[in-house]
Amino acid sequence: MTEAILLVGGKGTRLRPLTVHTPKPMVPAAGVPFLTHQLARARAAGVEHIVLATSYLAEVFEPYFGDGSELGLHLEYVTEEEPLGTGGAIRNVASRLHSAPGDPVLIFNGDILTGLDIEALVDTHRTTGADVSLHLTRVEDPRAFGLVPTDETGRVTAFLEKPQTPEEIVTDQINAGAYVFNRSIIDSIPEGRPVSVERETFPGLLASGAHLQGMVDSTYWLDLGTPQAFVRGSADLVMGRAPSPAVPGRCGDRLVLDTAEVAPDAKLMGGTVIGAGARVEPGARIDGSTVLDGAVVESGARIRDSLIGAGARIGARTVLDGAVIGDGAHIGPDNELCAGARIWCGARIPQSAIRFSSDQ
Ligand code: GTP
Repeated sequence: MTEAILLVGGKGTRLRPLTVHTPKPMVPAAGVPFLTHQLARARAAGVEHIVLATSYLAEVFEPYFGDGSELGLHLEYVTEEEPLGTGGAIRNVASRLHSAPGDPVLIFNGDILTGLDIEALVDTHRTTGADVSLHLTRVEDPRAFGLVPTDETGRVTAFLEKPQTPEEIVTDQINAGAYVFNRSIIDSIPEGRPVSVERETFPGLLASGAHLQGMVDSTYWLDLGTPQAFVRGSADLVMGRAPSPAVPGRCGDRLVLDTAEVAPDAKLMGGTVIGAGARVEPGARIDGSTVLDGAVVESGARIRDSLIGAGARIGARTVLDGAVIGDGAHIGPDNELCAGARIWCGARIPQSAIRFSSDQ
């Protein structure tokens, strides 16, 4: 039985202020901490033992997931005293693995939403006899990513930094954040110091002649590292565009958790989620957005592609478009926040204080 390591210790800086009180993998997507979807997908692929490599806000994982038995898993937690980076985190949990040196171990970044066929990745690893196999995905605009070209058999030929010029875009394949490592490779990562698997381990293995195999799989793939991507991913889970066995309730245009209160004439669409104990008042219209637990959206507010933190309050007639509101922030009535605005946790914005367009 293949076991897995999940990397969940990053600071999630691109997602702030949502990650001020909550580590990225615990921010709710489609009504449950995002990590739940990854754990459920790994379980569905036959994984039973998962070690969580924690660091930032490490203490919140175990009280929520416990020993994993509710998900049919055996979960263990290992916390780094100082963040060790992706490779250092993998090495740091090695003593908890049961696999023999030649056995495959799955490794997942904790912030990727994907329909990857996990069993196919393990099969590719076995049939090609690789030391490490990587899920690769194709992106339309590779400029923001490190590139991973492969030869005609799928063997990785290089790890290239973000391309600076058009000539440097030699492939549209990028590292999608899911790997199979032979156990012995994990043991060969240096211990006790920060290591980046992307910048140090993979290029080093390639230089030493190791066999790194790429598997291009073009199913749903999204890195939930930014607020815009996080909101998109949550909406795609609700609408069934992204696959997960852990969405609470049927897939559809909206997901309203049991204890939420939504006025009958409020409009919820585009995969909007209303969290537990949250309230949506009459005439509000919410599209493609996530409203976390206990937040309040007052009457006539218009919200699109935005994330409202736990316990936050959005005033009457306020317009949000592509905005992030931190936990407990209060936005007064008649404001307009657009285009990536981030309001910090607990902030207070008075009535009619901010607009992105004329009020007349
Ligand atoms: P940003 O700060 O926004 O870039 O996010 P991040 O901290 O999550 O970094 P990144 O997206 O590059 O991390 C990829 C994966 O590795 C995520 O699942 C992180 O949780 C995890 N990760 C990154 N650094 C560490 C670390 O030092 N220790 C552990 N245990 N996990 C890490």
